[in-house]
Amino acid sequence: MPLGFRTIIEPFRIKSVEPIRFTTPEYRERALHGAGYNLFGLHSSDVLIDLLTDSGTGAMSAEQWGGMMRGDESYAGSPSFFRFEDAVRDLTSFTHVIPTHQGRAAERILFAEAVTEGDVVPNNTHFDTTRANVEHERAEARDLVISVGKDPSAEHPFKGSMDVDALEASIAEVGRDRVPLVMVTVTNNSGGGQPVSMENLRAVRAVCDDHGIPLFLDACRFAENAWFIKQREEGYARKPAIDIAREMFSLADGATFSAKKDGLSNIGGFLAMNDDDLAARCRANLILTEGFPTYGGLAGYSLEAVAIGLREVLDEDYLRYRVRSVEYLWERVTATGIPCVSPPGGHAVYLDAKAFLPHIEPLQYPAHALAIELYRAGGVRGVEIGSVMFGRRPDGTEEPAAMELVRLAIPRRVYTQSHIDYVAEVIARVAERAADVRGYRIVEQGPWLRHFTARFEPV
Ligand code: F0G
Repeated sequence: MPLGFRTIIEPFRIKSVEPIRFTTPEYRERALHGAGYNLFGLHSSDVLIDLLTDSGTGAMSAEQWGGMMRGDESYAGSPSFFRFEDAVRDLTSFTHVIPTHQGRAAERILFAEAVTEGDVVPNNTHFDTTRANVEHERAEARDLVISVGKDPSAEHPFKGSMDVDALEASIAEVGRDRVPLVMVTVTNNSGGGQPVSMENLRAVRAVCDDHGIPLFLDACRFAENAWFIKQREEGYARKPAIDIAREMFSLADGATFSAKKDGLSNIGGFLAMNDDDLAARCRANLILTEGFPTYGGLAGYSLEAVAIGLREVLDEDYLRYRVRSVEYLWERVTATGIPCVSPPGGHAVYLDAKAFLPHIEPLQYPAHALAIELYRAGGVRGVEIGSVMFGRRPDGTEEPAAMELVRLAIPRRVYTQSHIDYVAEVIARVAERAADVRGYRIVEQGPWLRHFTARFEPV
């Protein structure tokens, strides 16, 4: 970063561009109707600025594209796998590295082999696929984030941390034998992209050690978490981000990972661990659905992209720009008085729809309604993280989620500052007519992960 200047610039220049398409309000209204008022149902070519997810939507570097040409597509024992394995081991030090096509495949395999009916899996906050994969094994996915982590406006440097007393209490309540593993999600995506402190990871580790329970990281955004530790936790300001990341992994027995986030890749993931027996069972399961253990559902060229991405993501100029660009959108939005989860997360800004649209009942989905309005007003697509995503219990009953958020996730290395300024302007325009926004009802939904496919009607 140029010394002595205030402006934090994108630490890259653009080599290849992709047009985005402008649409009229009438066109967007028709598109919404056709999609059953579900933003997952839109054609992405009808979206101007797509902040649906930061997952797999990043721009790869020239190095990564170069590496992809070197990708070796051998079915077994490809050198691309060994470069991937080296990159993962260098970062995590885990003995067993099992490639998967994305994060949820790692989750499915891990839980299929480690979790049985009636178990309880504690996490700070399960991501939706993680929860669904635990529940698929007829186990309980229990969220134990610290209580400030559930208050959108509470200021705390590590709002993603786990409530260690609640973890102890859960283990005491259900018994050690019903807790096959503890997970910590870094950063805590469903809780606002908030980081977990090293101190908290150490405390969770100590509880796991006391009871002999393995600790797994859901490490999708490990680099952003490491950067927050460097910025906010005492004793880390001078440590390189890579060493902080290594220390985080050293506290765990394994990890699930989606390379679509901090792997800076469009696809990929891994399951890694130290337990030989569990790893053998997971590899056998992998072969059943994902592929041979040296490619795990990935092309050789994707293994190369991830191996390079895992190193690039820890570049401190990149991390400074990354976290700052998210904070910039948060500043623009909060300056106009619009409530957001505070402080800003590492990969996204989360609008607090409960505070923004207090006149909409939780089970008329205020965050869903707000997300629809952002698309209607300016072609901006975010995602609801609220009662549509989390409101339904496994028995089919409905209960409001703890928070009603619209997440605006920023793809990595994709949008420039003027795109972000435009997004802030669209949000301000929706705010002007917030009182007129109405809720929705669900007219069709699937048995799990309903937010992807449900159809809605305005109330
Ligand atoms: N864990 C977390 C914390 C995630 O954010 C995600 C995905 C996954 C696991 C699953 O990974 O998609 O590769 O199978 N999050 C994306 C998102 C989809 O939009 O936040 P995956």
